[in-house]
Amino acid sequence: MKEALLNRLRDRDIPLKEFRQTAISLSALVASEIYPRFQGQKVVLNAILRAGLSMLSAFQEKFMHAPIGLIGIRRDEKTVAPHLYYEKIPPLPSGAQILLLDPMLATGGSTNLALNLLKARGAVHCTVISLISAPEGQAFVKKNHPGVSLYTVALDRGLDDRKFIVPGLGDFGDRYFGTH
Ligand code: PRP
Ligand code: URA
Repeated sequence: MKEALLNRLRDRDIPLKEFRQTAISLSALVASEIYPRFQGQKVVLNAILRAGLSMLSAFQEKFMHAPIGLIGIRRDEKTVAPHLYYEKIPPLPSGAQILLLDPMLATGGSTNLALNLLKARGAVHCTVISLISAPEGQAFVKKNHPGVSLYTVALDRGLDDRKFIVPGLGDFGDRYFGTH
């Protein structure tokens, strides 16, 4: 079921409405799968803007008691370096499970920067939740943050010369928000 939904998202020709509905449905399946792991524990949700917002409503529904952090990071189009433009992270209670939502983990730069911020605020138990990841990005995040758990629906082949995931689905944020 998750793979079927992900394959719809990979189709570059589907309209915005179907892309958005499908992303929300897939996030709901992922949130249901993640929920039993953390049920009854202190959880703090964090979404990387913009694309992480697409996963937030599904996770919010499962973790209704969880505070929510928003971290605005955009990749520079040329250098692909991550730039922080917004940060509002709630207090992180000791022992809390920190869930970080971003559908795309490409070079891993954005996730790495978000984890740096969360750890600086005391995060210890972190789980990164993505829909599609590249092996290069996962390796980069694991090297810098060895204790972090990485969950992804699909581990794709790699990155192209513009550091987009192959086969991937293109620019998630642009497709979800209709800004391309
Ligand atoms: C995308 C995506 C991730 C990041 C992944 O965001 O949502 O945050 O790129 O790439 P990386 O692993 O190489 O850092 P983008 O910067 O395009 O911003 P947006 O979500 O606002 O579109
Ligand atoms: N961000 C995306 O949205 N897609 C990619 O393939 C890489 C970064």
